[in-house]
Amino acid sequence: MTQDELKLAVAQAAIHYVVEGEIVGVGTGSTANFFIDELAKIKHKIKGAVASSEATAERLRGHGIAVFDLNQVEAMSVYIDGADEITAQGAMIKGGGAALTREKIVASVAKQFVCIADGSKLVNRLGRFPLPVEVIPMAQAVVARKLSAFGGEARLRLKDGVPLITDNGNYIIDMHGMQIEDPIALEAEINNIVGVVTVGLFAKQGADVCLLGTAEGVKTLK
Ligand code: 5RP
Repeated sequence: MTQDELKLAVAQAAIHYVVEGEIVGVGTGSTANFFIDELAKIKHKIKGAVASSEATAERLRGHGIAVFDLNQVEAMSVYIDGADEITAQGAMIKGGGAALTREKIVASVAKQFVCIADGSKLVNRLGRFPLPVEVIPMAQAVVARKLSAFGGEARLRLKDGVPLITDNGNYIIDMHGMQIEDPIALEAEINNIVGVVTVGLFAKQGADVCLLGTAEGVKTLK
């Protein structure tokens, strides 16, 4: 199976976690896009969605799915999103699509985080994928110096030769070569640096369920 076929398989499996008549939290990225396209097929059964990025909101609206502002929503049964890396315990690196802050905010409102990922995303230890950190632009240099103390190499993410700007108007620093032994502790330490908006470690509140696409079928890790 191709990677896209695996992503489609987990997106289809995730539809079973959508609760009829409710609002669903929707992530960002290529796997989430497969999910949005599947969600469109049952859009008459849901009230709508909360999007974790402008790109996701646009795709949802393109399918005629109502997009709610999170401030209008008090509770959600489920948030469904991809990951850049995930452990068997449900700790993740996210933010390859620069949407980590809104993803973490929407996920925090949901009762259950269902991660959808092809098998290549499952790791024993997080850190091979560069760890994204969203930062306030004026703090980029000082935060990069402080992040380097954790052992990796801090690189400002660029797009077309200039700093990438997130949906929130901030920059992303990617930490290359991190050895992440204790994701929960590192998440707290990085989030405590002044100027950091969010780190792309989702460990304190990780995935409750991971639907993993493999050649043998979709595996459910809980
Ligand atoms: C976006 C994310 C994505 O979930 C992550 O990058 C995985 O993306 P893809 O499904 O395209 O591999 O965190 O900020």
